[in-house]
Amino acid sequence: MSAHEAGALHAPGYGGIASVPAWLTPPADTGELLAPLWASSVRRGPVGSLQVGGVDVRDLAAEFGTPAYVLDEDDFRGRAVAFRDAFSDAFADLCGGADVYYAGKAFLCTAVARWVTEDGLRLDVCSGGELAVALRAGVPGERIGFHGNNKSDAELERALRAGVGRIVADSVEELDRIADLAAALGVRAPVMLRVTVGVEAHTHEYIATAHEDQKFGLSLVGGLAAAAVRRALERPEIELLGLHSHIGSQIFDTEGFEVAARRLLDLQAQVHREHGVQLPELDLGGGFGIAYTSDHDPQDPARLAKGLAAIVGRECDALGIQVPRVSVEPGRAIAGPSTFTLYTVGAIKDVLLDHGAVRRYVAVDGGMSDNIRTALYDADYSCTVASRVSAAAPVLSRVVGKHCESGDIVVRDEFLPSDVGRGDLVAVPGTGAYCRSMSSQYNHVPRPPVISVRDGQARVLIRRETEDDLLGLDVG
Ligand SMILES: Cc1ncc(COP(=O)(O)O)c(C=O)c1O
Repeated sequence: MSAHEAGALHAPGYGGIASVPAWLTPPADTGELLAPLWASSVRRGPVGSLQVGGVDVRDLAAEFGTPAYVLDEDDFRGRAVAFRDAFSDAFADLCGGADVYYAGKAFLCTAVARWVTEDGLRLDVCSGGELAVALRAGVPGERIGFHGNNKSDAELERALRAGVGRIVADSVEELDRIADLAAALGVRAPVMLRVTVGVEAHTHEYIATAHEDQKFGLSLVGGLAAAAVRRALERPEIELLGLHSHIGSQIFDTEGFEVAARRLLDLQAQVHREHGVQLPELDLGGGFGIAYTSDHDPQDPARLAKGLAAIVGRECDALGIQVPRVSVEPGRAIAGPSTFTLYTVGAIKDVLLDHGAVRRYVAVDGGMSDNIRTALYDADYSCTVASRVSAAAPVLSRVVGKHCESGDIVVRDEFLPSDVGRGDLVAVPGTGAYCRSMSSQYNHVPRPPVISVRDGQARVLIRRETEDDLLGLDVG
């Protein structure tokens, strides 16, 4: 959708309602749940309300209020374990297994950091704050990878003191700072180099170019990546582990990874020829897609891992090099589907568009402060009435928030029953990744809690913000 205000009002319409995206068809039953969109325990209970982890959403709303992020613990952990097992199996013969780093930027709190550690994953953090959460949770330093394109000396020093398993360096200048800090601390810094491979992948499309105009990484074609390898090998305080790339987000196939792996392994072979060094590790990043709507068809981790293992095996064979130990960094694919956001419906408006069409606006008690992805990335979401089922006819609706911004849209297009009304609960699935972690206090709206559910029990992982929290920093 256009970010311009007029975008929503000037959408073309037909036959009395606003235009429907090609992938969205009016459902026979507005209460039906599309399984790939929801955490595995979500279902409709005996009276039609949603249940998750054996808990009714009406009880969650009564106890914890709305909006709330509701996280299915078994679903989250099940996806983490599925990635762990899929990658260790697929790479077992090639390089003795593979490591999975959960990308904490998708959603991180101390409970999640503990879960992934207990379940045998590693943790990728990309700021001093995320590192602090990991350390507070007791994640052993050697299981942490530390990312970031502009790490401060203080962040690097903290990471080195914590004994992190890898720092992913983003520039030659940073390599020198890491080496100097390591020398001062009397340690050797384990380092991966983030390489810009010229592949940009999003959903079904990827673009492979030589050049990439972006802030991350060390360019291959510009020679920065090779220069960084040389620099790292010159500095005895650095233990160069290998090369890293992350090519994008919401990726559903392996074509982009194939080009990225080929380019990384070419450099790996060049390093071997020029320096006689066999880099022991290779990281292919994250970006694996999930289903936000019926339009998305993600691969399961086992297929994905087999696809990536075949690519790495083939490329290493062709180059005649030893297969490095591979790692990946999924965030969204673990956290995203585990969570839905539960809102309460407030105002409802039928707005007359050009051509006489009408668009129904359903306003909920949260919005762009708890889910910025729709406004920021044009992301599509789906939703359902969660507190009941209805036999009323489906009406194309737009779910919007309560913020002072016309782009404050949560779900751009969804069929909701025509009798949806004030007080109904609405659930938006797939909000476990990049919603709470990108949330804000815009309009001084307190951020929602994260409630995890399991075996009929709900517990607060992150409590709701209060007015005192909002005013707590205001010392004026
Ligand atoms: C370096 C790196 N690794 C992993 C991820 C996780 O990506 P996703 O959540 O799409 O799997 C990101 C996301 O931005 C990233 O920048």
